[in-house]
Amino acid sequence: MYGLVNRAIEQLVVSMKGEAGWRGVCAHAGLAADGFVSMQSYDDDVTFRLVQAVSARLGLPPEQVLEAFGEYWITYTATEGYGELMAAGGSHLREFLGNLNEMHARVETIFPQLRPPTIRVEDVSDTEYRIHYASERAGLAPMVVGLVKGLAKRFGQSVEVVQVLSKADAHGEDVFTVRHLPN
Ligand code: HEM
Repeated sequence: MYGLVNRAIEQLVVSMKGEAGWRGVCAHAGLAADGFVSMQSYDDDVTFRLVQAVSARLGLPPEQVLEAFGEYWITYTATEGYGELMAAGGSHLREFLGNLNEMHARVETIFPQLRPPTIRVEDVSDTEYRIHYASERAGLAPMVVGLVKGLAKRFGQSVEVVQVLSKADAHGEDVFTVRHLPN
């Protein structure tokens, strides 16, 4: 994945555990702590090793780390130069999710080697829908939960997000139910 992702993990760790905490994570992951280049594409393994190392050093399950990272990504991208892209995505959660593939297509003009996920939203009722998430990567479903919760927060909406199917039993897609709750 692009260095932007690894840099966001770095920022999240530094905000919680300081620079020393980040050096500890890098040491645990067997990576140099000399910084990632946002526009450089790194092996996915680097990102997964970082998540494992954060999990081990902070004593949190990897799923919790990924969910926290997903939530953080929403504020990180909005403040790290992608605020306009985020603003163009929509003004509420359902609208934004419907525009997400197009948004990543725009991101691809900046990051040509991007391998983004594909998302399809299936409406169930006015207040409930399912997100079908397809990715060539495995194991990132908890991150999607965090992303959706982070987006809801951005729009001041309250939601419950539950994964109801995983890749193995849903034709290669992870499926989530999103229920809007009264604010
Ligand atoms: C302007 C804001 C955003 C930018 C610049 C951006 C950029 C990126 C980048 C660089 C990656 C790494 C993929 C790669 O390097 O091949 C990525 C992955 C991903 N993005 Fe975005 N993204 C943005 C917003 C979002 C939002 C709002 C969501 C909400 C659902 C999202 C969902 C994902 C997911 C789930 C992945 C993991 C890749 C996978 O599933 O295989 N992104 N994005």
